[in-house]
Amino acid sequence: MTVVSISNEVTKAMQERYAVPLFDVFEMNGIEGVMDALTEKRAPTIFGIYSPYAALPNCRALAAYVRCRAEDTDVPVSLMLDHGASVELCLEVLGYGFTDVMYDGSNLPLEENIANTRRVVAAAHAAGVGVEAELGHVGMGDQYDSEGRRGIGFTDPANVERFVEQTGVDFLAIAFGTAHGFYNGEPHLDLDLLSEIRRRVDVPLVMHGGTGLSDEQFRAAIAAGINKINFATSIMNSAADNMRLAAAKPEASMFDIHAGIRAAYSHWCSDLYETFGTARRA
Ligand code: 13P
Repeated sequence: MTVVSISNEVTKAMQERYAVPLFDVFEMNGIEGVMDALTEKRAPTIFGIYSPYAALPNCRALAAYVRCRAEDTDVPVSLMLDHGASVELCLEVLGYGFTDVMYDGSNLPLEENIANTRRVVAAAHAAGVGVEAELGHVGMGDQYDSEGRRGIGFTDPANVERFVEQTGVDFLAIAFGTAHGFYNGEPHLDLDLLSEIRRRVDVPLVMHGGTGLSDEQFRAAIAAGINKINFATSIMNSAADNMRLAAAKPEASMFDIHAGIRAAYSHWCSDLYETFGTARRA
């Protein structure tokens, strides 16, 4: 199958109460680790390319690699720009065969976020590409104690209907207690806020900052209305640990060291497909 917009899969996840994961990838070994897991578990998957890497000259080639590998499976696979930092970058990657883009205007004033998201939606939809935007702001785990834990950046439910209606966005990322990277302190999810947002709009809802949450927290978030979950840092840390371990052996080859990346991705993705309920959905 060629890469496809994940819209249908995430809409199905919303109806059947599970979540489709986005895993950020940076190079070939990680992509192969995700491929191992998604093929074995038959789990629809989004390959995410994080905005600063999408702006590099090799992004077009990386996108082509994902597109080629997606042709080797009949499991639905999407290629998505993660945290698109500008309207221009979102439009540029449409030309690289991305099937979904996230425009991240979460740090901007509301009206500007709406206006920019609308521009991305107009161009992306004309190309058959799905769009995610963020309302509220999911911060960083190392500032969790002073921000996320205190509700700073949380999505204001009063703005949700208007944002969805005026932008025409396909998936909405919201802030209700998660943060990117490892948490400074215990993460606490505001499931009441999530449920209220779920009642107000019928677009699939996205949770960023999967690293550091427990299986129970994932399940509770999915039960309360999350349909797509972004996950990255723990996989990257495990990959680095595996590589350090392999490299400590004097006879280790480059291939032995690189194998640690593939193993970390395939291990984490396999586990998360079971936790998120994505396994055997394709
Ligand atoms: P983590 O790195 O915290 O898992 O978050 C990933 C993410 O949200 C990417 O968009």
